[in-house]
Amino acid sequence: MSSPRKIITVFGANGNQGSGVINIVLQMQSLSDKYIVRAVTRDPSSAKAQTLVARGAEVASGDLNSADSLKAAVRGSYGVFAMTDFWSIHSYDVEVQQGKNIFEACKAEGVQHLIYSSLPHATRMTRGVLPHLAHYDSKATVQAYMDANKGDMYTSFFRPGMFLSFLPNLLRKTADGTPILILPLSSDSTPWPMVDPPRDGGKYIMGLFEAGSKANGVTLNCVSSWTNAREIVQTLEKVSGREVLLKNVSQQEFEADYPENIAEQLTETLRVAGEFSIFGPGAKVLQPAFDQWLVEGSEKPISLEQWINENGPWNFEGTTFLDNLAAQKTKHFETVGEQQAEETSAQREAIAT
Ligand SMILES: NC(=O)c1ccc[n+]([C@@H]2O[C@H](COP(=O)([O-])OP(=O)(O)OC[C@H]3O[C@@H](n4cnc5c(N)ncnc54)[C@H](OP(=O)(O)O)[C@@H]3O)[C@@H](O)[C@H]2O)c1
Repeated sequence: MSSPRKIITVFGANGNQGSGVINIVLQMQSLSDKYIVRAVTRDPSSAKAQTLVARGAEVASGDLNSADSLKAAVRGSYGVFAMTDFWSIHSYDVEVQQGKNIFEACKAEGVQHLIYSSLPHATRMTRGVLPHLAHYDSKATVQAYMDANKGDMYTSFFRPGMFLSFLPNLLRKTADGTPILILPLSSDSTPWPMVDPPRDGGKYIMGLFEAGSKANGVTLNCVSSWTNAREIVQTLEKVSGREVLLKNVSQQEFEADYPENIAEQLTETLRVAGEFSIFGPGAKVLQPAFDQWLVEGSEKPISLEQWINENGPWNFEGTTFLDNLAAQKTKHFETVGEQQAEETSAQREAIAT
């Protein structure tokens, strides 16, 4: 008789990262024979959650801010994939607390293996050169807490590169409408890790779950394709048939385009990728070792060119995320700036303690 299937509970199942775990388990018979995926969401009645049910997942209610709801959500699970979403809270302290809440719920419910989506401590990794990446430092703080307190629970840490879906948001346009990638970098050839989490993230995460005790204490970098700014622009040109420009500017020049309250965080988010390879200088050479965790039988991660080919059409129309941020500077700077300046100083204080 075959052994009962193990439950893997997935946070952020409706989002980029969690969906990757659901996708790979439901796609690969070898995994769905062994695992049941339980998708956690704040709203199990939503259309997105119901789609997951129709595809074969269980759905459970859970809120990262409510410790009790998390215990119920992970109850009976062998493994938990946990992620926290900095961008919906914009707070170092809240993200750290949410990470601790998941961890405590897993400990209390006897979960065997917890995998947390983490990032390096950017302030330490860059020796203070990039001190405004609260969303990196908070995740690294959660990782250290989990490692220090895990007891006999296995913990593994999954660190994604920059999401490929963010690429279109980085482009702007010159006055004559030519698409342009403007970066606050001194080099356009530093290795830059990019990932398609819904397609490739789950392959690494399920590889860690499959490895069990061997994956205990492992931190891996999840990357579909290592590239660099020059190659990104050249590939966009090749696929679109349009000229795409690349311009490197100083940090001061870059920040001048954006509201003060977010300019440093935005600049540093690009600099940590384009100068520090996100995971630290030289991280690209380590990738073959991390790729050994890809779950057996899964397809190779996607290349930059294939992703750009599959995610067009590239007509460069409409406004992008960076266009919208730049517009805030002129239109709403006074109100938005004042309101968020308070959050930023609270985050900095938290990082210093
Ligand atoms: N963009 C990048 O290049 C990049 C790179 C590395 C790391 N990251 C990190 O990735 C994170 C965002 O991940 P993502 O893009 O996968 O998220 P996403 O697609 O924006 O989705 C957010 C998910 O978080 C869940 N969520 C948010 N607040 C929650 C709460 N209070 N309780 C329970 N679930 C909650 C949502 O669930 P429901 O709405 O269903 O409840 C949703 O599934 C950020 O922390 C960011 O720092 C991003």
